[in-house]
Amino acid sequence: MNLSIVGSGYVGTTIAACFADLGHDVTAIDIDETVVSKLNDGVAPIHEPGLADLVKTHAGTSLRATTDYSAVRETDVTFLALTTPSNPDGSIDLSIMKAGTRSLGDALADKDDYHLVVVKSTVTPGTTGDVIRPLLEEASGKVAGEDFGVAMNPEFLREGSAVTDFLNPDKLVFGAEAARDYDLLEALYQPLIDRTDAPVVKTGLREAEMIKYANNAFLAAKISLINELGNICKAYDVDAYEVADAIGLDERIGPHFLRSGVGWGGSCFPKDVAALIAAARDTGYEPQLLQAAVDVNDRQPGRMLSLLDDHVDVSGKRVAVLGLAFKPGTDDIRESRAIPTIEGLLDRGATVVAYDPVATDNMRARFPDIEYASSAAAALAGAHGALVVTDWDEFAALDLEFDAMETPVVIDGRRIVSTREGITYEGLTW
Ligand code: UDX
Repeated sequence: MNLSIVGSGYVGTTIAACFADLGHDVTAIDIDETVVSKLNDGVAPIHEPGLADLVKTHAGTSLRATTDYSAVRETDVTFLALTTPSNPDGSIDLSIMKAGTRSLGDALADKDDYHLVVVKSTVTPGTTGDVIRPLLEEASGKVAGEDFGVAMNPEFLREGSAVTDFLNPDKLVFGAEAARDYDLLEALYQPLIDRTDAPVVKTGLREAEMIKYANNAFLAAKISLINELGNICKAYDVDAYEVADAIGLDERIGPHFLRSGVGWGGSCFPKDVAALIAAARDTGYEPQLLQAAVDVNDRQPGRMLSLLDDHVDVSGKRVAVLGLAFKPGTDDIRESRAIPTIEGLLDRGATVVAYDPVATDNMRARFPDIEYASSAAAALAGAHGALVVTDWDEFAALDLEFDAMETPVVIDGRRIVSTREGITYEGLTW
């Protein structure tokens, strides 16, 4: 099939390259000329494992890019994969989405045959049907349900494994309103369905929109729940990881997302949970449990700092922060738990020396005045304490490096360091 994808960010580029790999003819549309020429040159504009190879393989044949929306007229389906940033109150800002939708509608005005517009971006319930559809009708002068259809197809891609997640989905969710639109989505995903046997959930537009939020809210709340249980474990000198392993054997609970520690960050969980809370409040419903999940998450870095306070008065002393990325395998520091951790150390008057294998440059833009070490060993040398924020594999191998600390106090927020005699070691929840 011929499809177009509006927006070449992390989601748009990943799905563009993956759909090309599934055998479709894909046109990526973006207003950024640099992104467009990179894609046409076979260079991925973002870093995701496996993406560079896919872009290189398909650019110029089944994958091309343009800034010109009129290219959508040569395609049967258009995905909207534009960013939905947060407003200060946590609700989503639809201005970029609306601008892209208008341009798409303008371009569709001159298209003769049926077109399907699929919302890929994360949007709150009602957005596709009540905002995107009328905007498309207005800009194109066409009638929804007759000349074009709208659908909602959320993504569940993790940073660092977006390509594998796309190609091996747990489920495919098709929100639509008409049989012909479900059929078009199915035809598009058929090569993947044949290959993976992924279950297809056919549902309404609002349900599809909500499934995405519910998925992320559930996972974020699951981590906050294990963190709360972990905090209680710590108070009773109980190892939360042994508890998690045992409860994870209950099929109803499952073993995943039970790693307690300093909490969740990234570009999705914090933003999506905040947007769902704002959307709920908009209707007059107060989402207590989701708010509590956020509150528990916000408290975890402070708990790590107070464990350090129990052993060292850090004022005027050098403290190492190991790990700056919000999770291993990425240089993304958005909502990383390292940010409140560093802020807490600075408030205490500590001299912060931070280390991350890949995220240092990004954190330097956020905290230009702290020290950045080129290795974990260099960060630890002479430090009076160390806080472990990201579970990078290399931290598991640290050993003699702790002997170079002034006082070897290690507070582990991710259960990654191997402790031994001679180290004052505290796990956050064990
Ligand atoms: C998440 C969802 O997993 C994905 O489906 C969605 O599309 C986007 O948001 P991502 O943000 O890339 O993906 O990261 P993920 O691997 O889910 O981790 C999120 C955060 O939770 C990280 O900060 C991680 O350290 C933390 N986490 C995860 C825990 O603290 N404990 C766990 O057991 C699992």
